[in-house]
Amino acid sequence: MICSAKRGKNERQGLHMWHPYYAGYSESFVLSVLKSEKLAQGAVILDPWMGSGTTGLVCQKENINCIGADINPIMSRFAAAKSHSIIAKLNDEGLPILERVIIKCKASSQLSKYYIETLGVEMSYFRLLIKIIDETLPDKEHDFEMDSLKSFYYSVVYFTFRRLLDIKSGSNPTWVVNNGFKAGLILDDILSALRCDFSLMLAQLTNYFNGVSVRSRYKVLNCDCKKLPIENNSIDMIVTSPPYLTRIDYAASTKFELQMSFGLDGYQQVRKNSMGTTTVPKIADPFNALWGGICLKVLEQVASHNSRASDTYYIKNKLRYFSDTFSAMSEIYRVLRDGCSAYLVIQNSYYKEIEIPLYDIYCEMAGNIGFSVCDVIREEKVRASFGKINPKSSLYLKDKVYYEKIIRVTK
Ligand SMILES: C[S@@+](CC[C@H](N)C(=O)[O-])C[C@H]1O[C@@H](n2cnc3c(N)ncnc32)[C@H](O)[C@@H]1O
Repeated sequence: MICSAKRGKNERQGLHMWHPYYAGYSESFVLSVLKSEKLAQGAVILDPWMGSGTTGLVCQKENINCIGADINPIMSRFAAAKSHSIIAKLNDEGLPILERVIIKCKASSQLSKYYIETLGVEMSYFRLLIKIIDETLPDKEHDFEMDSLKSFYYSVVYFTFRRLLDIKSGSNPTWVVNNGFKAGLILDDILSALRCDFSLMLAQLTNYFNGVSVRSRYKVLNCDCKKLPIENNSIDMIVTSPPYLTRIDYAASTKFELQMSFGLDGYQQVRKNSMGTTTVPKIADPFNALWGGICLKVLEQVASHNSRASDTYYIKNKLRYFSDTFSAMSEIYRVLRDGCSAYLVIQNSYYKEIEIPLYDIYCEMAGNIGFSVCDVIREEKVRASFGKINPKSSLYLKDKVYYEKIIRVTK
């Protein structure tokens, strides 16, 4: 039986709390999918929308090779850091490496006066630490692949700054609330917090894999799922959950880390390129008949809706989403081996009173791309939907019903 994708309480503690992430699915769901098929020895699982790395964690525990991809470099770092392969090294040499970083940071902090004046204290120290981590750890990053050890140290920096600066999630899970930078943050405070968080996060990682001997490969790519650096017909199963069409900006939940790392432009860039973004292109993407009849009907209803901006902003937004979906599903088809399946968790949404049955649209699109079968293997009514975050959404239709379905498409 395929388990619910809803996360349980145990997935809101330990390494799951390294970053505030509301969009993750459950480990029991991933496990039940992996167990539902007899995978060949050496099989490779792909999650093209990896997020916090749930698929990777379960695959490692099950000794199954896994590749994850995410367009957001911060999420890719967190996912890559959740790797069993670095535990021994971190326990042996992790603290001495951290001390080397700390010594270099203290030595260069005097030199960065100009940096501090232009970027501000917090951002200067944040960037300085990331730069020193980069220099201290040998560069094993190539072809979009994140180095897990480096990613662990990056993740400690993200965690520490979020904690020290008291950055919390707002009522909308993608918004972050900056409660105002705490005055008087000095380098010594940051460095001692870093030591403390390093030990905590290493203990959580060690604890998570306690007693498990992992021999499988785990790789995280920071790339666009529409252009995966993966060979044709090389993947044995896909387990994933795409961004939904609920006007949630996935990049916003890591706005703080993105902005600290790459500035406001860098953050906007990731946001713009993420699927499901609320930003829209200047020129609307052209409709493609292969997106299918259900998609066309939804688009026609949106474009002809009498509410403001339906035929401008909103239609462009939906066209961009479906254009991205089609490219991503075509890429999934390309990398899957013949006869193999992709399992996707998908939720419906509404535009005003118009229902957008996203799962049906994905199924129809999959058929047009060449997948032979699309089955709904589980469905459940969802109570709290992110589509309801907008209080005005109930003006158009009370009692909107939200479903989360798990679909399986087979090549
Ligand atoms: C629903 S979440 C996945 C959650 C994941 N299943 C977990 O358990 O954490 C969707 C993810 O897709 C990523 N994403 C959005 N557009 C993308 C793209 N074009 N290529 C790759 N990843 C993308 C977002 O950054 C987000 O992390």
